[in-house]
Amino acid sequence: MRIGVPKETADGERRVALVPEVAGKLVGADGGTEVVVERGAGAGALIPDVQYEEAGAGMVDDPAGPYEADVVVKVAAPSAEEIGRLRPESVLIGFLAPLTAGEAVQAIAQTGATSFAMEAIPRISRAQSMDALSSQANIAGYRAALIGAQELGRFYPMLMTAAGTIRPAVVLVLGAGVAGLQAIATARRLGAVVQGFDVRAAVKEQVESLGAHFLEFDLGGDLEGTGGYARELTPEQQGRQQELMAEAIGKVDVVISTAAVPGRRAPVLVTEEAVRKMKPGSVIVDLAAETGGNCELTEAGQSVVRHDVKILGPLNVPSTMPEHASQLYARNIHSLLDLMIKEGELELDFDDEVIAGACITREGEIVHEAARAAAQAATATSS
Ligand SMILES: NC(=O)c1ccc[n+]([C@@H]2O[C@H](COP(=O)([O-])OP(=O)(O)OC[C@H]3O[C@@H](n4cnc5c(N)ncnc54)[C@H](O)[C@@H]3O)[C@@H](O)[C@H]2O)c1
Repeated sequence: MRIGVPKETADGERRVALVPEVAGKLVGADGGTEVVVERGAGAGALIPDVQYEEAGAGMVDDPAGPYEADVVVKVAAPSAEEIGRLRPESVLIGFLAPLTAGEAVQAIAQTGATSFAMEAIPRISRAQSMDALSSQANIAGYRAALIGAQELGRFYPMLMTAAGTIRPAVVLVLGAGVAGLQAIATARRLGAVVQGFDVRAAVKEQVESLGAHFLEFDLGGDLEGTGGYARELTPEQQGRQQELMAEAIGKVDVVISTAAVPGRRAPVLVTEEAVRKMKPGSVIVDLAAETGGNCELTEAGQSVVRHDVKILGPLNVPSTMPEHASQLYARNIHSLLDLMIKEGELELDFDDEVIAGACITREGEIVHEAARAAAQAATATSS
């Protein structure tokens, strides 16, 4: 049984799906598993080929080489060219954007390959070690707090100096999921006064346990949906939320926004009107830029200044810490492979909730219900 590791080709993607540590464990686990790595696959994460060789992996020059393996492990969703390399007997694992990349998912299905999306792994206790959404969101949250500190022309902590006292910066974190909680913890460590906000009432305690103040807006009940995620707000609730936010935001130095609803455009929490109310020199780091942004004025991948407020919409933030991002991602992949490999053979047990839940395509069909609906909607729009 062979596992193939291609070099990532998406723009700006520096991560790699397997690091030498994990490749070595897979090869060492039993005599039956081989790992084949494309030369240079680890370069973006500063992992030299020789480390893979020392771990027992085979190296190939041809980008198509890893696709001849039984299981291909990737980080970013495959390009059209990469999808073209899949065969009916291939198994593909990676971030496949199953709810937003309908046409690509359809194309993967048509190859006959069996594919598993890391985003679709059920968020249950047993699957925590495979939860790549969390491992990568943690990095994004940490980094966003640092970007905010770097871009703000003021101190985060309170400073008492001979020249007088400097008041601490106020950081408001919107969306207290995995990324938001890490942003709160990091901004607190840097000495800022931190506020957190989320529509799920359950996170109040978590925000407070990190030493932050939880902002409470009455939007009409708890807005927790299925699987621990938030529900999409009604237009009335969204309008009310934007009004309350515009009032709260005037006293804030940095906004870090992470609010998301799976498969949907990110909710707009910060309107242009709210930005106008912010102090000149304040900063917004919008981690939701990839899915439309939590701020009305965010431009994906850009840093813009509007009404004297700097608004950043960074993309693929985990890739800016490629070494640790790859290490954690590779461990998530390893845990999933552990479920799939029995005594050196690939054995996919579709009665297992994790395997079945993460499976997107199989035998030419899109088998994941929500992904199928997203693909049908994408096909309807494009035709
Ligand atoms: N293995 C597990 O059991 C496990 C692992 C990870 C996460 N989870 C659950 O899933 C939750 C969310 O995970 P995530 O961080 O990937 O979520 P996410 O990235 O989908 O969303 C980020 C946050 O935005 C919030 N949000 C959505 N709409 C909002 C709005 N209009 N205003 C303010 N906030 C809004 C969500 O409630 C969420 O906390 C976790 O906090 C946890 O409860 C469970």
